[in-house]
Amino acid sequence: MLSFMKTSASSAYRGSEYLVGLDLGTSKITVVVAEREGPYGEAQIIGIGQAPSTGIRRGQIVNIDQTVKSLTRAIEDAANMVGENLSEATVAFSGANVQSIKTKGMISLGRAPRTVIKFDIERVIESAQANLSVPSGRMILHTIPVEYSLDGTTGIDDPLGMAGMRLDIELMSIIVPVAIVQNVKNCVTRAGLEVSGLVIKPLASALGALTPEESVVGSAVVDFGGGTCGVSVFLEGRPKHLAVVPVGGDHITNDIAVVLKIPTNKAEEIKKDFALFSDPSPEQPNSLEFEYMGRSYACPLDKLTDVVQCRVEELFSVYIKDEITASGVTSLPGGLIVTGGGANSADIDRYLTKIVNMPVRVSLPLDSGRMPPSRNGVEYTCASGIIRYVLEKERDPLKYIDYSFEAENNVNIIDPIAPAPPRRTIFQYVINLFKELF
Ligand SMILES: Nc1ncnc2c1ncn2[C@@H]1O[C@H](COP(=O)(O)OP(=O)(O)OP(=O)(O)O)[C@@H](O)[C@H]1O
Ligand SMILES: [Mg+2]
Repeated sequence: MLSFMKTSASSAYRGSEYLVGLDLGTSKITVVVAEREGPYGEAQIIGIGQAPSTGIRRGQIVNIDQTVKSLTRAIEDAANMVGENLSEATVAFSGANVQSIKTKGMISLGRAPRTVIKFDIERVIESAQANLSVPSGRMILHTIPVEYSLDGTTGIDDPLGMAGMRLDIELMSIIVPVAIVQNVKNCVTRAGLEVSGLVIKPLASALGALTPEESVVGSAVVDFGGGTCGVSVFLEGRPKHLAVVPVGGDHITNDIAVVLKIPTNKAEEIKKDFALFSDPSPEQPNSLEFEYMGRSYACPLDKLTDVVQCRVEELFSVYIKDEITASGVTSLPGGLIVTGGGANSADIDRYLTKIVNMPVRVSLPLDSGRMPPSRNGVEYTCASGIIRYVLEKERDPLKYIDYSFEAENNVNIIDPIAPAPPRRTIFQYVINLFKELF
């Protein structure tokens, strides 16, 4: 069921090695290409391709043909930029119905303290997974150790090499509908790339935005996209909760379109042109007046700001707050880090500080200084985070454990309960223990 050693790196070609990440967004599809700078852990982003996304709504594929067309254009754009044909990618996706479920597991290490080996960590992860029941038609996308305890001492970052008699784990499993994964794989394959790995978007966005200090002290990240808000909560360097709220900037655009009775493309323009989150100032007109398609429009600006601010207040103080509460993390000294296209709105950080009652930082991608200048803004945090995700998994394969493609291929859509994996025998256990000790 779990593939502990699988990495999602794209393959090498022409003597140098590339990593390719693909962000399936509601507004745009982004393909990021990075070149390795060393055998492990370092890569330089060398190109970012993109295309408008037309077959995705609220983060979920709703039209296969349109999505394949958008993907093909984005892949071509990236390939032209780096002058290489791309062959495979790690794909970031989201969609409604993403569940983040925590389970606990425990193993005994023996009657006397001994050193924890890698196989013990695999066993304790499996013991926590045995306590998880995956609903029919769903599958585990990620298995993420949240916290280890050794002989009752909690907060162990990495038990490998430490001594003890009992190892406990809290595990977070990200559960997604099998059909969503199959649609994603189907579209990417039809657009000409093999899927070498999958990552849930809030995780990629968090890795793309959070500084190491923020991820250790406790912080929440919101990727405020077009159709969704990806939410993640990190503490002690590990994700404690990941969620997708199916509301994003496009809902604000729709609200403006409804209030002003104008098409969404004009509403989108107005949203970007007016400082809808800024405090009223004498320089700003009280009324919004414009001509469109031969008609004159006028609306009091405060009416528009009320509608937009109400939408964002509800989004952050209800839906996003609920997800932060679900993480169980009660103190977030690192505050709220906001990224994604919605974070472009003028003064959104000041406005949100009042709503969430904690410090708010608008974050560019951590790698923005090494990304192409026109494609290094807040909209590209998730895409750049995919490369960080792949590299982090290579450094520590037990930090973010992939689902196995074989397991998903074995899932029958009509009866999607996959057969239980064969349990390791005591004989295998002894052999592995022997191999690691000697
Ligand atoms: N200057 C701006 N002011 C306000 N909103 C903006 C601005 N620029 C972009 N946006 C909004 O950002 C959203 C797109 O963000 P982004 O590119 O991060 O989305 P996406 O990744 O494609 O979508 P998702 O992650 O939700 O699937 C749109 O709603 C767009 O209107
Ligand atoms: Mg996005």
